[in-house]
Amino acid sequence: MRSHQPLMITTTMPSNVTPYPLVCPVRKDEMGLIMPACVAMFTEEVGVSPLACDGGLLYQARVAELVGSGRSFARVEDGQVIFKAEVGAVTPHACQIQGIWVAPEYRGRGLSETGMAAVLGLRPARGGPGRQPVRQRLQRGGPSRVPARRLPRGRRVHERPVLTPSGPASSVPLMSHPAAGPPPAPRDVTVGPLDLAARVDDALAVQALAFGLTDDEIGVRRHIVLRHMATPGARALGATTGTGRLIGFVYGLPNHRSYWWSTIVAPYLRAEGHDDWLDDSFVITELHVHPAHQKYGVGRALITMLTDAVVQPRSILSAIDAETPARGLYRDLGYCDLARLVHFPSARSPYVVMGAHLPLRRR
Ligand SMILES: CC(C)(COP(=O)(O)OP(=O)(O)OC[C@H]1O[C@@H](n2cnc3c(N)ncnc32)[C@H](O)[C@@H]1OP(=O)(O)O)[C@@H](O)C(=O)NCCC(=O)NCCS
Repeated sequence: MRSHQPLMITTTMPSNVTPYPLVCPVRKDEMGLIMPACVAMFTEEVGVSPLACDGGLLYQARVAELVGSGRSFARVEDGQVIFKAEVGAVTPHACQIQGIWVAPEYRGRGLSETGMAAVLGLRPARGGPGRQPVRQRLQRGGPSRVPARRLPRGRRVHERPVLTPSGPASSVPLMSHPAAGPPPAPRDVTVGPLDLAARVDDALAVQALAFGLTDDEIGVRRHIVLRHMATPGARALGATTGTGRLIGFVYGLPNHRSYWWSTIVAPYLRAEGHDDWLDDSFVITELHVHPAHQKYGVGRALITMLTDAVVQPRSILSAIDAETPARGLYRDLGYCDLARLVHFPSARSPYVVMGAHLPLRRR
């Protein structure tokens, strides 16, 4: 509660303000975009993070409720929230507008005013869901164009800070080392730099098979990957066969506390006294190997080569908190548990955050 909190009302649309165009109700599959903006707004306004104490579970639930009921509005460009606001309480007589926020780099241009006017025009009618205007998103280039799709409930698509074409890592042919049982070894697999933006569809096809993604999730993740590839310091490596087929990839980038992934894991790390791992760390965002090529050392080569080439002294990542091959690989490479039972919005399974000092452990 603040000592001075004026209540202001309006009963008319402003005649002298042109509503900010392309402000739309936030879709359910845009939770990953809107959450960081909501967290930033709350923290700036109230002075404390809504993620404190319970890791933000209650706050996420509240944001999800607003999004689910069509009461969260935003303008999104290239996967970035430029302006957002929500309609909190709704009665037959009035709507309470809250959480108005403009991305810091867009401030000073009057967007809060024009954005508010847009929300006034879109407000829910008599407690019903927000009106659904024809959706239109600004996209700069062809590759980042993402169809408006919805995610099935409970499916995991969470954003982790990421990647871009990697630096001058050398291509390394892999020796296959099959243990008993697996299919014929991919003897001609090479690990080297990957232009992930150019091959995002190939990479997501691998991830879909290795990890299990629906078409809807692929669409969302494609958008996230392309956006993250513009992040400074991001790197990607791919594993390709002699015919150039991509059968595995890894990517990551230097962590920053403002990234969505960091904002989610930070309270869990803080509770365990490992908050400092968010600084000077390289985050592994994705690592996937085509099922037919697993257990031949491809995954190990990808993550080891990627982290060998970074300047950060340590690496962090999140994995499903279960005894999976990935968990076994990470442990083998020297990653230790930093926080367990970490919950990401829209992820059904809890995650574990793991960290390792670089270079990763060799056998
Ligand atoms: C995790 C993954 C990338 C590993 O790739 P990979 O090429 O099969 O891994 P490697 O052959 O390099 O194996 C390295 C180590 O991983 C562990 N490992 C791999 N497969 C395993 C399995 N089926 N069961 C237990 N441990 C396994 C072992 O420690 C293995 O070392 P070893 O072969 O010397 O025993 C691959 O299993 C995968 O794509 N899984 C699905 C996607 C996924 O979960 N990604 C991680 C998201 S956090």
